[in-house]
Amino acid sequence: MRKNSLTGAAAGLILAFAGCSAESSSASADATAIPEGKAIVVYFSHTGENYSVGVITEGNTAKVAKVIAAKTGADIYEIKEAKPYPHSYDECIDVAKKELRDKARPEIAGTLPDLAGYQVVYLGYPNWWGDCPMIVYSFLEKSSIEGKTILPFCTHEGSGLGSTAKNLQKAFPGAKIEQNGLSLRGTTAQKDATATEQAVDKWLKQTGAVK
Ligand SMILES: Cc1cc2nc3c(=O)[nH]c(=O)nc-3n(C[C@H](O)[C@H](O)[C@H](O)COP(=O)(O)O)c2cc1C
Repeated sequence: MRKNSLTGAAAGLILAFAGCSAESSSASADATAIPEGKAIVVYFSHTGENYSVGVITEGNTAKVAKVIAAKTGADIYEIKEAKPYPHSYDECIDVAKKELRDKARPEIAGTLPDLAGYQVVYLGYPNWWGDCPMIVYSFLEKSSIEGKTILPFCTHEGSGLGSTAKNLQKAFPGAKIEQNGLSLRGTTAQKDATATEQAVDKWLKQTGAVK
């Protein structure tokens, strides 16, 4: 099914995207310099049917996460849900909406990484209804992120980072959540490796992670 012929909840969500900022990538020049030390890229990304990109076997955010890990030499960890989200886009947005409304904390599959040795966490997720997927909160609540610098990056289809960085800082006041995160259109991440690399390079330079 093509995403330009959606109905119901999905169509409503797209209208909501249309009213949001349409930048393809963003990273402010006054981003805070990141501290020296070991870094890890932690990300959640959904495969299956997705908005504007059809059925994908590697998520949009996953693609960005891998570029960041390759360029910084950071370790990488994918947050995987214990109970898979629906393959269908329409069903997935319904499940995600309910999770957001319920402030759900979905179970994560497998063992979580020990963040003790890391100073910096690049945290990647898709924008889901203006926030991080609730499973990202599951991860952060189960991990020890006190005192760590968290650099958020997200993929989206019009809303950018939304209020995700602000929400994360409010939820985790003991961590330093960089407010100038990277946001990139999912379509770009999925289909344009060069533009993705350029956006990542620009952002990493601004953070000081890569000279
Ligand atoms: C459940 C759900 C909710 C979404 N909500 C938004 C949204 O509020 N704003 C937006 O710009 N994009 C939204 N999108 C689009 C995704 O953010 C976008 O397709 C993203 O690149 C998906 O990344 P992924 O493949 O890593 O999961 C939503 C997609 C899904 C599946």
